[in-house]
Order: sequence, then structure tokens, then C-alpha cells
Amino acid sequence: MDSYLDTNRANWNDRASVHAARTGLGYGVQRYIDDRALLSGVVLFDRERLGDIAGLRTVHLQCHIGTDTLSLARLGATMTGLDFSAKSLEQARRLAEKTGTPIRYVESDVYGAVEALGGEQFDLVYTGIGALCWLPDIQRWARTVAALLRPGGRLFIREGHPVLWSLDYERPDNLLVLAYPYFEQPEPLVFDEPGTYVETDAVFTHNTTNEWNHGIGEIITAVLGAGLSVTGFVEHQTVPWEALPGRMRQIDTNEWQLTDHPERLPHTYTLQAVKTSV
Ligand SMILES: C[S@@+](CC[C@H](N)C(=O)[O-])C[C@H]1O[C@@H](n2cnc3c(N)ncnc32)[C@H](O)[C@@H]1O
Repeated sequence: MDSYLDTNRANWNDRASVHAARTGLGYGVQRYIDDRALLSGVVLFDRERLGDIAGLRTVHLQCHIGTDTLSLARLGATMTGLDFSAKSLEQARRLAEKTGTPIRYVESDVYGAVEALGGEQFDLVYTGIGALCWLPDIQRWARTVAALLRPGGRLFIREGHPVLWSLDYERPDNLLVLAYPYFEQPEPLVFDEPGTYVETDAVFTHNTTNEWNHGIGEIITAVLGAGLSVTGFVEHQTVPWEALPGRMRQIDTNEWQLTDHPERLPHTYTLQAVKTSV
């Protein structure tokens, strides 16, 4: 392993097929095959803010096994999914095929997306829910997003809040304790965790990850600096996974919330921005 990309890619490749298990907890891929109208919880949450996306040429960055990508296609968008994990894309392609949905999947590091997509520009760049934490440089990400958008095109991201990412997620009491950096750091946080965020008995080989946090001001400044105008920014009191295990309750089928005084914590945010410069 000679770079953060190799380390993280190996981790994701290890977990993709478990995430794509057709039944059980987690992504529940079989449900999308059985019900051709089903939308993922993530896209259902976004739907109101997304508005009508029918016909929009859309790229989903860090699309993983494609459940959200498929859901966006079901809302009528013309979808391209991009991810650096070949094993994730294998699962995403299988799901698209089994549901008869035309989706193009492209294997690439996010920072190589412009080249991998041949300079194509899109009406909508969609990303989030565990995407930005894998990227060391938020300004480079924002420049990549800008280059992927046509003038007038839109960025839509719902993401874990950097305050949430900075919390001690293993703390046994109800205190919210800042244990990790809120601001972007040059060096990654290195974690070694044997499991994954879906319930499984599977044993994985590659358990190390390299991760970074990015503060809200850094994200917004990067987006503005890349030539986009912010058109919406909302902080939410829910998150679509049990981010602080044992300290959250599921408030509907798709969203989790801190059990004790959730109003203390911005759980996630939705940022929308439009490319104004050419
Ligand atoms: C938690 S998933 C987010 C996707 C989506 N929200 C979901 O839950 O299905 C993170 C994805 O980012 C991908 N990823 C991580 N670093 C990447 C990079 N540098 N370039 C492209 N994809 C990357 C991983 O392969 C993984 O599929």
C-alpha cells in the first residue's frame, strides 16, 4: 500500500459485496429488484430539495453500489455513477442490469473525474453521505465539481456534518466530546476498524482507512472559490445511519437522531450551489 488511495480502495473493495447482500440489514439490494419504483432512503430525504430532475444529465460522485444512483435514475435523471472501487461498481452494474436501468458507471478517483469522463459537463453533480471524508483537499474537490458542471449546472450534496465527524463516537455517556479535528488537516486520520456500517458477520482483510474532515466554512469557501454561487444551505437534526452507535434512535425507516437532546447537534447538511462562471 503506497498511498491513501490504495489503502482506502482496498477497504471499500473488501466491503462492497457485503453491502450489496440482497437481503438483511444495510442496503437491502433485493428490494430494488422486487419493487421497480423503490427509492433509497437517502434520495427520498433529498427529493423535496432536489425538485424535478427528470431529463437532467447527472453524475453521482462516489456512487458506491449504486442504490442512490438507481434512485435518481428512477426520478428520471440520465445517470452516470463514478467511484474508484471496481468491486462497488461491479455491484452497481449488476443492480442496474437486474432492474433494467440504463446507467453508465465509470471507475475513477474523484480527482480524476474530469479526465475519466472525457471533459463531459453535467446539469447536476450529486454526492454525499460519507463521500467528502475520503478526500484530502476540499478545494481540489470543489474545482473538480465546477469543471464537471455546465454553466448554470447545480451541485447537490447532503453530507455528514463536520461537527458530527469530529465527535468521539465511542463515548459511553451522553456528552458530546470533540475528539477529532473539525478543520481540514494535511495528515489523515488513520483508523483500523474490522467491521463496517451494515450488520454482518463477514471478516474483512483490509481494515485501515485514511480520512479527513472539512469544516463548513472550508467547504462553502471552496465551493465559492471554484466559481459556484450557493443557493441553499440547511443543517439537519437527523442522519441516515447510526453515526453514534447506542446513542441514537431511529426516527423513521431511514433516519437516525441523537436520543438525548438532538437539538445540540447538527447531524447532516444539504448544500446546493450553481455554477455561475464559465
Ligand atoms: C459511504 S460510500 C458513499 C456513497 C453513498 N452515499 C452510499 O452510501 O452508497 C463512499 C464511497 O466513496 C468511494 N470513494 C472513496 N474515496 C474515493 C475516491 N478518492 N474517489 C472515488 N471514490 C471514492 C468508495 O469506494 C465508496 O464507494
